[in-house]
Amino acid sequence: MTTTATAQTPFNRLLLTGAAGGLGKVLRESLRPYANVIRLSDIADIAPAIDDREEVVPCDLADKHAVHQLVEGVDAILHFGGVSVERSFEEILGANICGVFHIYEAARRHGVKRVIFASSNHVIGFYKQDEVIDAHSPRRPDSYYGLSKSYGEDMATFYFDRYGIETVSVRIGSSFPEPQNRRMMSTWLSFGDLTQLLERALYTPNVGHTVVYGASDNKDVWWDNRYATVLGYAPQDSSEVFREKVEAQPLPAADDPVRIYQGGAFCVAGPFGD
Ligand SMILES: NC(=O)c1ccc[n+]([C@@H]2O[C@H](COP(=O)([O-])OP(=O)(O)OC[C@H]3O[C@@H](n4cnc5c(N)ncnc54)[C@H](O)[C@@H]3O)[C@@H](O)[C@H]2O)c1
Repeated sequence: MTTTATAQTPFNRLLLTGAAGGLGKVLRESLRPYANVIRLSDIADIAPAIDDREEVVPCDLADKHAVHQLVEGVDAILHFGGVSVERSFEEILGANICGVFHIYEAARRHGVKRVIFASSNHVIGFYKQDEVIDAHSPRRPDSYYGLSKSYGEDMATFYFDRYGIETVSVRIGSSFPEPQNRRMMSTWLSFGDLTQLLERALYTPNVGHTVVYGASDNKDVWWDNRYATVLGYAPQDSSEVFREKVEAQPLPAADDPVRIYQGGAFCVAGPFGD
């Protein structure tokens, strides 16, 4: 089965990698309407299946053979697993770089036609906070982590051009219950808006490889989704309701990278191994 035509029809089986993570735990619940069965996978411990609409399959994304088995029998993949913060290149390599290759290669071999890739704003983190960019702006990764997501997006383009596997790469901003600082007033993505965006990413036909910025309807957004209008994503939430609370925090100095760059603190992480 490829993607289904209408949002009313659940997929038979969706795979969610990173299911033990912060977003994985949220999506485990919020994606239930879209699948008869969700296969939940992670290298870390996952809470047991609550009913026969969940399957728990532990897997290390760095293990090609294990990922091949993991993907068998699924209709679409939500790839959220991997290292989600800045680490040394060696730590990023297995989970994120080899991992994304293993996911696409398994998708190809098992005939899976749709991947939703949890990309990141850190593929463009070295743009300044007074710049507005879109999906065609050259990438400016701010970290080895951002580089791995940039590589994942190239992998998605290649697997579409070569094998017709479609991907929506969601450059997630900051998806947490609330924005935690001033930067996140621009980058915040509510869990409700994330779920809506993933629903659109799963069901919209003919997406090729579409890159979409994952932010809520925030007042001072830095990202223009003009190249993702096909998805019909219409965020419902805004960080504005948290402004007073967030602005009670001290203002970072004018030369602090967290105030200058879209990627914030990731722009000054490392170096590693000196
Ligand atoms: N939360 C955000 O605001 C945000 C922003 C941008 C991108 N993202 C991306 O969304 C995804 C989920 O983010 P999160 O906040 O839930 O991160 P998280 O770190 O809480 O979850 C990631 C999960 O991946 C798992 N993982 C790590 N290495 C693995 C491996 N080798 N094999 C299998 N699983 C492995 C971890 O155990 C973890 O449970 C990540 O890919 C992250 O890069 C998140």
